[in-house]
Amino acid sequence: MSDFDPDALILRVLTDPAVIPDPYPSLRELREQAPIFQTALTGTWILTRYDDIRAVLRDPRCGSPPPQARRGERMGIDGSSRRDRDPESLSMLFLNPPDHTRIRGLVSRAFTPRRIEKLRPEITAMADGLLDDLGPEGDLIGSLAFPLPANVVSALVGVPAADRDDLRPLITDLGVGIEPTASDEEVAIADQAGREIRSYLLDLIADRRTDPHDDLLSVLIEASEADGDRLTENEVIVNTILIYAAGFETTTHLIGNLVRNMVAHPDQLARVRHDRALVPNAVEEVLRFDPPVQIDGRYVLDDIDVAGHQIPAGSSLVTSLAAGNRDPAVFEHPDHFDVGRVDTQVLSFGSGVHYCLGAALARLEGQIVLDRLLDRYDHWAITAEPSWRKRITLRGVERLDVAFS
Ligand code: HEM
Repeated sequence: MSDFDPDALILRVLTDPAVIPDPYPSLRELREQAPIFQTALTGTWILTRYDDIRAVLRDPRCGSPPPQARRGERMGIDGSSRRDRDPESLSMLFLNPPDHTRIRGLVSRAFTPRRIEKLRPEITAMADGLLDDLGPEGDLIGSLAFPLPANVVSALVGVPAADRDDLRPLITDLGVGIEPTASDEEVAIADQAGREIRSYLLDLIADRRTDPHDDLLSVLIEASEADGDRLTENEVIVNTILIYAAGFETTTHLIGNLVRNMVAHPDQLARVRHDRALVPNAVEEVLRFDPPVQIDGRYVLDDIDVAGHQIPAGSSLVTSLAAGNRDPAVFEHPDHFDVGRVDTQVLSFGSGVHYCLGAALARLEGQIVLDRLLDRYDHWAITAEPSWRKRITLRGVERLDVAFS
């Protein structure tokens, strides 16, 4: 008889720091042995196959829990406690259609391809400035992967350069609150950070009302003042905080994973160096192979059937985007890092109505970093064992010592 125990395995994946650097063998075992199972630990259903994950993320019967099911929940990435919140105090990430459709439609006005592309020269200049400061060796995370996306989101939102350094640690504190393993103390710190960011944004919104700029905050305020459909001030705030929180550390880890994986696969780095048209593919392959957001979740609003498993309304689902991205039913030789893959539909940005609003911006940042590093340096090395953050929703290293020449 097999001694395979999916509960023990998922517990290790979710809580054992020793598994964080390489969760993929454990995820493969889960996908092969128990691709859909309800863990006895919490009653949550765990999904690890690509098609099942994509199906539930796109299924209108799966979404965010209704208010009565939220009681006792902890804070969300949008910065306010999830307890007792009405729809207006939830960011779009925690809304279901039609409320979600309305907010997403209005916020999307600020994420036009034109606005993203317009940031290209500014992002390139920021990356160059940070790489100049880093010099030939040092910690890539602290010097580049951390400040770059934070400053990019600040530029997008319209936070003045002088305020960005003060805001960054608050956003980091906020991010800890979404980890399933966050302690009560971390959640309290995250809640406090949420309050401070909210108060800062209230002042900035007041400023932009009288003096609109060409930035996201001004677009959202305009959307709130336009005739017909509108965003309330609170909706502007919670969705701005969401964009900040969702766009910052995710991209930090994309950049860290990018450099780590390119150094770990020198043949692939050489390929990209010889054929720079592969830069976008390389970023896509990093997203597939080592996704910054490893898990996503849904609440079952109405009974569903997933590959023959009856999952009743009221259940919670955890989808392992990392496992789905390595499903051999979809990706040939999924454990091979291959920058030549084409048409990869990675799960790393989710799927369906909540598909990441910042995907184009994140990809652009990754591509600019890879291009600028290739332009500047022929030899890349990692000089010390990277240290990992003890986190699994947003997984990545906290320090990456590099040497470039
Ligand atoms: C590599 C970097 C990134 C990754 C891996 C990532 C991942 C994700 C994922 C998996 C979701 C879906 C969540 C769900 O299904 O519930 C999501 C949603 C979202 N992301 Fe990203 N993200 C990244 C960068 C960004 C950036 C740069 C921004 C904005 C500046 C952003 C803004 C958002 C927003 C607003 C949502 C919510 C969309 C909605 O609820 O309709 N993300 N992201």
